[in-house]
Amino acid sequence: METIKIKGKNGISTVIIDGKIEDVSNHLPGKDLFIITDKNVQNSYFNRFPKAPVYSIIPGEASKQLAYIENIYRWLLLSNADRNSFILGIGGGVVCDITGFVASTYMRGIEFGFVSTSLLAQVDASVGGKNGVDLDGYKNIIGTFNQPRFVICDTDLLQTLPKEELVNGFAEMVKHALISDIKIFEQLENDCNHLLQLKQPLISKHIAESVKVKASIVTADERENGIRKFLNFGHTWGHAVETITGIPHGKAVSIGIEFACRMSMKKGFISKREYLRIMNLLNSFGLPTSINVDPHAVVNILAKDKKRNASNIDFILLQGIGNPKIETMTLDELKTFIEP
Ligand SMILES: NC(=O)c1ccc[n+]([C@@H]2O[C@H](COP(=O)([O-])OP(=O)(O)OC[C@H]3O[C@@H](n4cnc5c(N)ncnc54)[C@H](O)[C@@H]3O)[C@@H](O)[C@H]2O)c1
Repeated sequence: METIKIKGKNGISTVIIDGKIEDVSNHLPGKDLFIITDKNVQNSYFNRFPKAPVYSIIPGEASKQLAYIENIYRWLLLSNADRNSFILGIGGGVVCDITGFVASTYMRGIEFGFVSTSLLAQVDASVGGKNGVDLDGYKNIIGTFNQPRFVICDTDLLQTLPKEELVNGFAEMVKHALISDIKIFEQLENDCNHLLQLKQPLISKHIAESVKVKASIVTADERENGIRKFLNFGHTWGHAVETITGIPHGKAVSIGIEFACRMSMKKGFISKREYLRIMNLLNSFGLPTSINVDPHAVVNILAKDKKRNASNIDFILLQGIGNPKIETMTLDELKTFIEP
C-alpha cells in the first residue's frame, strides 16, 4: 500500500494505492453517508459497500449530463442529506466526476471521497479535484475544482473491468509518462504485456507512478493557470473526437495524442523515430492511433471549446519524450495544419 498526498486550496487529498474497498469505513469522517455508484459496479460489489443509501446511475458518459444529475440532487434532498453529510463515489471516471460535482454544489458543497474502480479513474479521473459534467455535447464544460478527502485505488477491482475499458486507462498512463519522464515511458514499453495482464506488483507500481506525476502537477497548479495545462496533452483534439464519434474517453485521448505528436513532428520538435515509438506503445496497449473522422468537423468543435482563449487554442506539444510545451495557435493555423 502506498499513500500519495495532494495539497489543494480546500485541504489535503490522500490517494491510497492498493487500499481495499472493505477498509473504506476507516477513512470516513463519521458523518451521514450517501453512496453514488453505477449499475455495473453495484452488481459486482454491492455486498462490499459500507451500509448507506445508494444512488446507482446508468453506466456511461450519457449520465454525465446536468439534466440527469438533477435526479441525484432530488434524491439527496428527499433523503435529508445536509451540509454535514458525506458522499462516497464508488466507480469509474463517470461516477467520480458526477460525485465530485454533486458534492461540490449540493448545499454549496459537502465533503466527498472515492473508491475508484476503473484503471482510468485510478490513474487520472479520481485524482486532482476536477469535477466536470457535460452539456449539449460539450465535455466537462460545467464543473468545479474541489479535492476529494480521500481516493482509494483498489487494484483488485480491476479484475472484473472489461478489457475494452482497461485499455482506456493505459492511454492516460502513457500521457502521464510523455509529459513527465522518458524513464517512465521506457518502463511502460518494457512492462506493457505484463500490465495488460494486470500482473502484480507491476500494475500497482505503474498506477502509483502515474498518480505521482498528476499529484505533483496538481499540487503546483491546482487551478490550471500554468503547468496543469500539460495534463491536457492529447485532450484538446481527443475531447472533440470523443464528442463527434462517441468513442470511449481513453481511446479518444489516444487519437488526440497521435494528433499532438504529429503536430510536434511537423513543427520539428520531435523526430519521426520518436513519433513512431510513441505510436508503437499506444498500439501495444491496444489503443487506436487513427480514426475515420472529418478533421474539419473536429476543428469546428474546437472553435467552441472551453480551452479556447479569444481566437487562439492552447495545444500541448512535445519537445521530446517527457518534455511538454504549450503552443498557442490560431484557428487559421490549425486549419492549415489539417489540410492535406
Ligand atoms: N475529472 C478528471 O480529472 C477526469 C480525468 C480523466 C477522465 N475523466 C472522465 O472520466 C470518464 C471516463 O472514465 P472511465 O473510463 O472510468 O469510464 P466509466 O466510469 O464509464 O467506466 C467504464 C465502464 O467500466 C465499468 N466499470 C468500472 N469499474 C468496473 C469494475 N471494477 N468492474 C467492472 N466494470 C467496471 C463501468 O460501469 C463502465 O461501464 C470520462 O467521462 C472522462 O471525461 C475525468
